[in-house]
Amino acid sequence: MSGGGEIWTSRRAAAALAGEIRVPGDKSISHRAVMFAALADGVSRISGFLEGEDTRATARAFAAMGVRIEQPSASLRIVHGVGLHGLSAPAAAIDCGNAGTGMRLLTGILAGQAFDSTLIGDESLSRRPMRRVIEPLTRMGARIDSQDGGLPPLRVHGGRRLNGIDYALPVASAQVKSALLLAGLYADGETAISEPHPTRDYTERMLAAFGWPIAFAAGTARLSGGHALRATDVVVPADFSSAAFFLVAACLVPGSDLLLREVGINPRRTGLLDALVLMGADITRENPRELGGEAVADLRVRHAPLHGIDVPEALVPDMIDEFPILFVAAAAASGRTRISGAAELRVKESDRIAVMARGLRALSVRIDETPDGAVIEGGRLGGGEVDSAGDHRCAMSFAVAGLIAGGEIRIADCANVATSFPGFLALANDCGFDVG
Ligand code: S3P
Repeated sequence: MSGGGEIWTSRRAAAALAGEIRVPGDKSISHRAVMFAALADGVSRISGFLEGEDTRATARAFAAMGVRIEQPSASLRIVHGVGLHGLSAPAAAIDCGNAGTGMRLLTGILAGQAFDSTLIGDESLSRRPMRRVIEPLTRMGARIDSQDGGLPPLRVHGGRRLNGIDYALPVASAQVKSALLLAGLYADGETAISEPHPTRDYTERMLAAFGWPIAFAAGTARLSGGHALRATDVVVPADFSSAAFFLVAACLVPGSDLLLREVGINPRRTGLLDALVLMGADITRENPRELGGEAVADLRVRHAPLHGIDVPEALVPDMIDEFPILFVAAAAASGRTRISGAAELRVKESDRIAVMARGLRALSVRIDETPDGAVIEGGRLGGGEVDSAGDHRCAMSFAVAGLIAGGEIRIADCANVATSFPGFLALANDCGFDVG
């Protein structure tokens, strides 16, 4: 899919943002829940499943490999698992759409199958680096053909015997870690992964919940092949990365008081909370509890003036998806914000440093790009025309900017917001945005 011609206009908030909302289910957890349920023995029920294009593409991929998946109602999936070795060859190429998570994790699973398969994606996904999974999977014994430069489409050869691997990830990436652990389910011997900085641990936690023996701690994970996954029910919390747009919006609009319900607060995801608090935000975690084995809380955010900071590099992996909205918070804050150690942003759904810098400049913000970040002079944002480059998170970030800009913001190429956040416009307008 492509961002296409969808253009939004975001206007200044007429009043404070207020209300209680629940944003849709977590994207990372929804992808994994479908994958593990498909490979398990027995029937699993996934509630709170994200009805986004990315996660629906993953469900379609498993349906195309013979897994029966029922959808009795929105956000509910009943998955009839076929067992670790029960997938059948898909009749056509598997289309992962815009989803890097879908493609990288599937590559790990498909490397262990008896059949050949092909993975394709949209224009953005077709530009994203896959060598980071191909190279270690090849060392495990897989055979994967890519286009020049390690780009999709990928051809994954089946019938290969895989061995475990002891691998230190060169970049902190939960997708790469997960792809290797998933291939490790099919491998002889032990697969041991270490990371330069701990990343989200949903794969590890969910494998354990599905009954696979796994040892993990922050920055390391280790498992052996030859076991089985047992069906289990998964309850998906609200996605912190979708909540992030509302957290920043309520910080910025005077008088705001918003409650975001049941948000996943796994510490490997909530770096933005720490950064915003350093900037002066007023955010509290209410009613912290467990939901389906994950920590959740209701996040209450009230308006507070923000000031610029040097974003601690240690926070970067814990807020890797939140930089587009942090750029907007920094542009609206008083003083200077420095971001460094975030070169990975250049290989996300878009080059997020370049797209946000170009957009903010068009809104009269002073911003200098660096290879691994940016220096942003905060203060005021003007109106203007910006291009989200088909990147869902950049589009929603510019929509938030419109709430406090001097004039209206026209945002090009917004259709891909449906990949992660269907219903964003309705929810945003319900709590006081003027966007559409
Ligand atoms: C994800 C991992 C991160 C993140 C992405 C989802 C996951 O990617 O940016 O949105 O679900 O494992 P990387 O592994 O490339 O950092």
